[in-house]
Amino acid sequence: MQFDDKDKVIIVDFGSQVTKLIARRIRELGVYSEIITPKELTKIKKYRYIKGIIFSGGPSTVTGKRFQSVPSDIFKKNIPILGICYGLQLIAKIFGGKIKPSKKRREFGRAFLIHRKKSLLTKNFLNSRKSVWMSHEDAVVKLPTNFKTIASTKNSKLTIIENSEKKIYGVQFHPEVTHTDQGSQIFKNFLFLICKIKKKWSVVSQKKKLLKEIRNTVKKDKVICALSGGVDSSVVALLINQAIKKNLICIMVDTGLMRKNEFKYTYKIFKNKYNLNVKLIDSSYLFLKKLKNISNPEKKRKIIGNLFIKVFEKEAKKYKNIKFLAQGTLYPDIIESRTSTGSKTSKIKSHHNVGGLPKKMKLQLIEPLKEFFKDEVRILGKSLGLVKNINFKHPFPGPGLGIRIIGNITVDRVKILQEADAIYLEELIKAKLYNKIWQAYAALLPIKTVGVMGDSRTYENICLLRAVISEDGMTADYFNFPKNFLDSISNKIINNVRGINRVVYDITSKPPSTIELE
Ligand code: XMP
Repeated sequence: MQFDDKDKVIIVDFGSQVTKLIARRIRELGVYSEIITPKELTKIKKYRYIKGIIFSGGPSTVTGKRFQSVPSDIFKKNIPILGICYGLQLIAKIFGGKIKPSKKRREFGRAFLIHRKKSLLTKNFLNSRKSVWMSHEDAVVKLPTNFKTIASTKNSKLTIIENSEKKIYGVQFHPEVTHTDQGSQIFKNFLFLICKIKKKWSVVSQKKKLLKEIRNTVKKDKVICALSGGVDSSVVALLINQAIKKNLICIMVDTGLMRKNEFKYTYKIFKNKYNLNVKLIDSSYLFLKKLKNISNPEKKRKIIGNLFIKVFEKEAKKYKNIKFLAQGTLYPDIIESRTSTGSKTSKIKSHHNVGGLPKKMKLQLIEPLKEFFKDEVRILGKSLGLVKNINFKHPFPGPGLGIRIIGNITVDRVKILQEADAIYLEELIKAKLYNKIWQAYAALLPIKTVGVMGDSRTYENICLLRAVISEDGMTADYFNFPKNFLDSISNKIINNVRGINRVVYDITSKPPSTIELE
């Protein structure tokens, strides 16, 4: 548990893809929430600050002999409980209901609720025809003892159930996803009408506490930080700088694989505007040399990651008495590093981060953002005066353009891509689309195609444009651009970047594809 002294709602994670969204929805409503595993639930000793418990959805089934469950005494603590999807089925099973796997009753996607009875949980929610998002194969077919049916759908009778006396509620649909109309109202009712919890959580109110913690941990020692100019490392640097001033050393390693002019811009901002002790190391030559003739994505990732560590370590050694390494680890990174079932999800890509550094350099880690989601980090960034250009910047991967230049990486190809990418971002900002998109970038494909320009044949590169909407990068949809934007961006890139004669737009979602190409 991270805060032992704060009113909170705990979310028991049974492995749903969208558990994180439950935590976010609750925090958006001004209440602190934490995600724990079913095993961690069994180890809780102090319940004083736990004002509500939510059971998430998950891939398990209560119709088998063995299934993930909770200790039965959890229902005796007089703490309100809300089960979502698998969570509802688990509650139904524990209280004597019947659950069946059923092809007839399964629901995926949109369903409409039919109102049966009044409930605190559905106040101001069931007053109009509600479309909710479903994803289940099992269904509760017999109501558990002392429960009432609040709403049904065409396919499943027991979609919302409650035992208001014991304050136990269950919903078959997912109120946490945006596809459910006004899903937040369910959480509002659960938190404020049922749990009677007070709105106390705000990111900014945590700032004072974080600053104090950093001061108490670091004391008079030195902290080093790899500054990339992304939101997370920038917020970490400003926060630590505010706490300990001169004892923070920031190192920016220019791999030569960054966006056009971006690194120098960031360097200037941190040096001149924020007066940080920041050093820029230009290692672009070294990175490009090591990447020569390497086209395998995993090899590229390893080379870039390892070289980054080497360069950083060499630079850090020039400073004496460094005890801490500051990193921008976020709450989703912490949740993802452990699963509810203990099974490891298969590795899709090896991520570049500076994770190897603390061990190698015998440094202690400081991770002040480890309780926050990305949007919360941006709130913190704003309160620290971080410039909008950085605070609202799209995520950018550690290996940078190295994994957006498919095939071999050369100086020329980096330049071509930087130009096209810069035009793309500039046009997105001009068209006021940048902030509607979670991540956008240009990439260079490893094939050339024939074109015709000014009556002459050309044989040049294809530039791929990607733009996605997402909540956390785990799943994503491609952004639906207006046709005139696509027309004009294609035209602008081809007219202004030598070496590109064709522009394509990637219209795949994640899954089945990923956000980056490599
Ligand atoms: P994928 O391509 O896996 O990307 O759908 C999901 C999100 O992660 C970012 N990404 C990275 N971020 N180091 C990072 O810090 C990496 O090595 C890395 N690879 C992918 C990607 O940009 C997207 O936001």
